[in-house]
Amino acid sequence: MEFVRLLLVFLHLLGMGMLVAMFFVQMRVGKDGPLNKGWLHGAGLQLLTGVALVALAPLTDKEYDHFKIGVKLLVLVVIAVLVAANVNRQKVASWLTPALAGLVVLNVGVAVFWT
Ligand code: HEM
Repeated sequence: MEFVRLLLVFLHLLGMGMLVAMFFVQMRVGKDGPLNKGWLHGAGLQLLTGVALVALAPLTDKEYDHFKIGVKLLVLVVIAVLVAANVNRQKVASWLTPALAGLVVLNVGVAVFWT
């Protein structure tokens, strides 16, 4: 079971890397371009792997702080809603890319500093 947890953490960290990479992709596209669908895929991967880690906690002998997890989930929902609302638009608002990146960094901070 420990291998499954490590695999999920591995994918969770790759998902984080993908969301950080999306910021740079979006910067290259500039504000006249559409929102890259990678944001949606990265957010989906974080949600799936995060929920699976929490759901499997009794089997992996882990105890997670549910308040912390709730905050991470809330931040991710905000990311997902912003992405879903803008992914089909021709142009992105100039505040959207820094806001999404800020929320991703916020969740990394919550994950690391909230012990
Ligand atoms: C943008 C979204 C997210 C980012 C960037 C993110 C980032 C991270 C990072 C960097 C870690 C490793 C922390 C460490 O080992 O010290 C981590 C761990 C974890 N995350 Fe997330 N996370 C996100 C969303 C979520 C969500 C939505 C959930 C649950 C619903 C979640 C559940 C967890 C759990 C349970 C761990 C601990 C895994 C373990 O060490 O066993 N994460 N996250």
